[in-house]
Amino acid sequence: MLCSVVLSASRMADGNGPNDIDNDPKAIKNWLKKIAHANEKVTQLHFYLHDIVSGPNPTNIPIVVSNSTARSPTYFGLIAAIDDPLTAGPSPDSEIVGRAQGLFGSTSLEEISYHMSFDFVFTSGKYNGSTLSVIGHNPFLHKYRELSIVGGSGFFRLARGTAILRTLTYNSTTGDAVVEYDVIVLHY
Ligand SMILES: *[C@@H]1O[C@H](CO)[C@@H](O)[C@H](O)[C@H]1NC(C)=O
Ligand SMILES: *[C@@H]1O[C@H](CO)[C@@H](O)[C@H](O)[C@H]1NC(C)=O
Ligand SMILES: *[C@@H]1O[C@H](CO)[C@@H](O)[C@H](O)[C@H]1NC(C)=O
Repeated sequence: MLCSVVLSASRMADGNGPNDIDNDPKAIKNWLKKIAHANEKVTQLHFYLHDIVSGPNPTNIPIVVSNSTARSPTYFGLIAAIDDPLTAGPSPDSEIVGRAQGLFGSTSLEEISYHMSFDFVFTSGKYNGSTLSVIGHNPFLHKYRELSIVGGSGFFRLARGTAILRTLTYNSTTGDAVVEYDVIVLHY
């Protein structure tokens, strides 16, 4: 049976300060014993990702391009690293609740589409120090994209779920984008 707990990023700051998730192997074994009798929880998260390509402090940098990438209308072959801030509101000045850290590759010959592989690393409230691991197919020009939550740590140990993405703003001159995330996570 699922019990539903709805939390939003704006409440993330209301936690009890630094997280008290115990990573000690013994504590994890005890936790595992307990979840055998625990119900799965549903947590919903809502935040904005700021992907900054331009300017002196980009949070998205290319690592590898092949010779043919520059001639490709879909940037096929590009691999890039991201460390994008996640904020509670759409403004870059809004409260930072975490970072999206990882890699993506341009993997479609037909349209601009990225294979994403990254972690949400939360830094706020009760999720501080906990992570969610995200993987999936991101056809960037589609209105909605869906990525899979394939795991997590800390508060989100043994998580699975789904993330819906929608591009809020995209500057085609600079490449900078703000992307809205609606995340649903099942965890213990
Ligand atoms: C998050 O945790 C780190 C490490 O425990 C701590 O230094 C930091 O102050 C915490 N941040 C918040 C917003 O609670
Ligand atoms: C890529 O371009 C460089 C410089 O133009 C050239 O030396 C190299 O042979 C090219 N590699 C491939 C695989 O085409
Ligand atoms: C895109 O960025 C350029 C350079 O910073 C800026 O001049 C332009 O106004 C931006 N466009 C939009 C639609 O925000």
